[in-house]
Amino acid sequence: MSHENALVGVKVVIDAGPTYEDIDPVRFLGNRSSGKMGFAIAEACVAEGADVILIAGPVALATPGGVACRVDVRSALQMRDAVMKVIDNADIFIATAAVADWRVAEYSSRKIKKNASGAPVLELVENPDILAEVAARDPRPFVVGFAAETDHVAEHAREKLERKKLDMLAANHVDENIGIGADDNALELIWPGGSETLPRASKSQLAKTLVARIAARYHARKAT
Ligand code: PMT
Repeated sequence: MSHENALVGVKVVIDAGPTYEDIDPVRFLGNRSSGKMGFAIAEACVAEGADVILIAGPVALATPGGVACRVDVRSALQMRDAVMKVIDNADIFIATAAVADWRVAEYSSRKIKKNASGAPVLELVENPDILAEVAARDPRPFVVGFAAETDHVAEHAREKLERKKLDMLAANHVDENIGIGADDNALELIWPGGSETLPRASKSQLAKTLVARIAARYHARKAT
């Protein structure tokens, strides 16, 4: 592991992986996020000397060596609580998690049975937007969001950067072969006033470049 020391003494909170929104004791709403991108970023931050807290949704990944603390959660509400518990002390927040936008309005403590009256109708309610909540804090850490898009990646990404008032946003195109669940990714990195394309590479390679860019902009902002 190479130590460039760009983040020595810097406290970084990263959320990663999917969230699962339980419907009943056997069923849930989820998504295909594996946590690989977020865990690779955690590893790259450690390599730069950062103190890393990793908040992980349900993933099957080992904690990268040197991560100071890992908190495992299942749902979006649990992920929000875990992030908010530690965010006061964070210098940088990186939101790589694929947080479910909705959860069921009412969890059924009994398995929902098939019956003659047909398929159940699930009422959904919106989950809190963890990234927007962190970005709205004052004071706040340096905030890096992600955007997973299947189309018009750059347009949607610029809109999210501005609407959520982020310091930086990494947008990725997602389909069956790249981005979500896959080993490779490609990122369109944008920040107020600039952008950079990070072409397709392994998530661990991309994470190193991304973390170098985050460190540079974090230090530049601190110096102003
Ligand atoms: O886990 P992998 O298999 O490695 O895949 C990586 C990834 C594709 C999941 C990752 O690179 C990625 O794009 N993460 C963000 C996925 C996402 O939910 O994008 P979004 O466009 O819906 O959300 C935008 C941003 O808001 C994200 O930073 C997300 O973490 C955050 N968000 C969204 C909803 C919500 N309720 N709370 C949030 O914090």
